[in-house]
Amino acid sequence: MQVIVTENYAEMSEKAAQLIIDIVKNNPKAVLGLATGSSPIGTYQNMIKDHKENGTSYKDVHTVNLDEYVGLTADHDQSYAYFMRTNLFDHIDIDLNNTNLPKGSARCRGKECDRYNALLENYKQDVQVLGLGSNGHIGFNEPGTPFDSVTHLVDLTENTIKDNSRLFASIDEVPRQALSMGIKNIMNAKSILVVVSGKNKAEAVKGMVKGPITPDLPASVLQLHPFVTVICDKDAASLL
Ligand code: GLP
Repeated sequence: MQVIVTENYAEMSEKAAQLIIDIVKNNPKAVLGLATGSSPIGTYQNMIKDHKENGTSYKDVHTVNLDEYVGLTADHDQSYAYFMRTNLFDHIDIDLNNTNLPKGSARCRGKECDRYNALLENYKQDVQVLGLGSNGHIGFNEPGTPFDSVTHLVDLTENTIKDNSRLFASIDEVPRQALSMGIKNIMNAKSILVVVSGKNKAEAVKGMVKGPITPDLPASVLQLHPFVTVICDKDAASLL
């Protein structure tokens, strides 16, 4: 695991974007595994800037996202589908038909998980971007999720509901469930890029990088992957 410590969020975002841009330049048909949350927003902004200034093209790129809230349609402004359009897809030349997320509004969640797992078989991520939950979750794989899990229905923990409530009008509006790629789907990526910032993530970063490999801290599984780059600011790295 390569750990790059940056001065701040801005530098973290620049470095993370450059890594993704280089992958796309090397392989214009790359498959990008993407994440939501505040951690990758700056990364996406730098990718947009590069697209506008240097013309890096995403027209043949495919994307697979980690997760989606159950019950939200793609046009709900708190859905991850909406997040991806407004924070990235609408500002680059990607074909929206090449972008994929689990469907949170699917009637049959089991079937939707099967569909997404089959899709992931065809689209192996050249890089999977990850944020990190303060409890060490990746995607919505909460503590205790088995390492051999594939896309599944998740009951969100109180901790995650509280963390994510800042983006909703009230905590009662935060969905209680999500569909998430499993840990096996994430580990299947050819390379993994983790972006983390802030003091509230320092414990989770320590567990991810140095702690015992245990489902109690899902991100610790990344120690077993051969190509992981962690780009974190010095606050997030403060306990390393
Ligand atoms: C959410 C997402 C994760 C994300 C994490 C951290 O619950 N499902 O994919 O990495 O929380 O979010 P943030 O980057 O906003 O701290």
